[in-house]
Amino acid sequence: MVTVIIPAAGQGRRMNSATNKIFLPIQGKPVLIHTLEKFSAVDRVSNFIIAAAEYEIDDVKNLVAGKFSKPIEVIAGGSERQFSINNCLQLVPTDSEIVLVHDAARPLVSKTVIENVIDSAEKFGASIAAVREKNTVKFADDDLFVEKTLPRSNLWEVQTPQGFRRDIIFRAYESALKDHFVGTDDSSLVERIGIKVKIVESDSFNIKITTPDDLIFAQHVLNN
Ligand code: CTP
Ligand code: MG
Repeated sequence: MVTVIIPAAGQGRRMNSATNKIFLPIQGKPVLIHTLEKFSAVDRVSNFIIAAAEYEIDDVKNLVAGKFSKPIEVIAGGSERQFSINNCLQLVPTDSEIVLVHDAARPLVSKTVIENVIDSAEKFGASIAAVREKNTVKFADDDLFVEKTLPRSNLWEVQTPQGFRRDIIFRAYESALKDHFVGTDDSSLVERIGIKVKIVESDSFNIKITTPDDLIFAQHVLNN
């Protein structure tokens, strides 16, 4: 069984919209519904746990009601993405061997990428979707002086889904909580307990809807 955790409890500040970005429509359908549809279409996915902001739990429940055949639980998220996911982990069924985490705000993920991350998580224990870095990336100090140029061929821009064997993600989250470590993705929590994380090559359509231009891009992709 594969459980999918969907963090949707952010505020979408960078979108500058009165409505949380996960509810904004693309081709008339909310971002969150697009995202859930992608995972619903994958046979091995058994259930969803969505983290929503406390004041949006009912809105999310109403939005998803009756639309999917797989069970969906909606619970309160936390002040950071990591805390939202930690809340969801408490509800993962004991018979789920694989846990996937996927941002509600990435509605353009492909079925192939989802399946590849599941396969790779089963094989290696931990796996993440990522794309090769297209730009040259510099490491700079706080005064904006370049310290070094990072070798581009080793650089990957990380996305979700990120998939883990159940025991691994639980251990990683427990350890982060204990040490007050807050990471910018799930993989970083797993890396710090000494687990090797395998990259699955994804595509650059799998963007995170963050700023208004991302919505225009997503609209265009779906129109074509
Ligand atoms: N998220 C969450 N809990 C939080 C913060 C974020 O579940 N405390 C979710 C968001 O809803 C989103 C995903 O994590 O689906 C990725 O976060 P991000 O793109 O940063 O979304 P927001 O935090 O909502 O946007 P912003 O940072 O612009 O406010
Ligand atoms: Mg955020």
